[in-house]
Amino acid sequence: MKIAIAADHGGFELKNSMVEYIKELGYEVNDFGTDSADSVDYPDYARKVCEDIQNEKSDLGILICGTGIGMSLAANKFSGIRAACVSDVYSAKMSRNHNNANVLCFGARVVGDEVAKLLIKTFLENEFEGGRHERRVNKIMDIEKENKDL
Ligand code: RB5
Repeated sequence: MKIAIAADHGGFELKNSMVEYIKELGYEVNDFGTDSADSVDYPDYARKVCEDIQNEKSDLGILICGTGIGMSLAANKFSGIRAACVSDVYSAKMSRNHNNANVLCFGARVVGDEVAKLLIKTFLENEFEGGRHERRVNKIMDIEKENKDL
């Protein structure tokens, strides 16, 4: 499985250590930066990860900014992207099991290294349960289609 990851200046240090961690877990990583504290705009980095998933070059994505909020707002504007901004392990698990989230977002100013590792491991190792949850996720995707040209 291939994982796309990116961060803005608020999350680049955490992102760099998470790249190594994700590799240790045995996944391939597409790292889209940023790689310095120079100020950048998080939507540009959300775009890189979301387009990589849309182009089927990556299976799942991880986006890190200061809070995770800006990244998730931007990511959820991309067709087919279901981004979950989480800071606890239960929500990370449910975002896969019930929501079929394909992008995990969190804030480097919210969680530390060890919590970030748990969020990532949980997100990557859980799967969508389908069933009644599929009907609900399909309704989310219907909303996306209905709003496409508005
Ligand atoms: C950048 O200062 C900060 O606004 C950004 O990292 C993020 O937290 C936005 O949601």
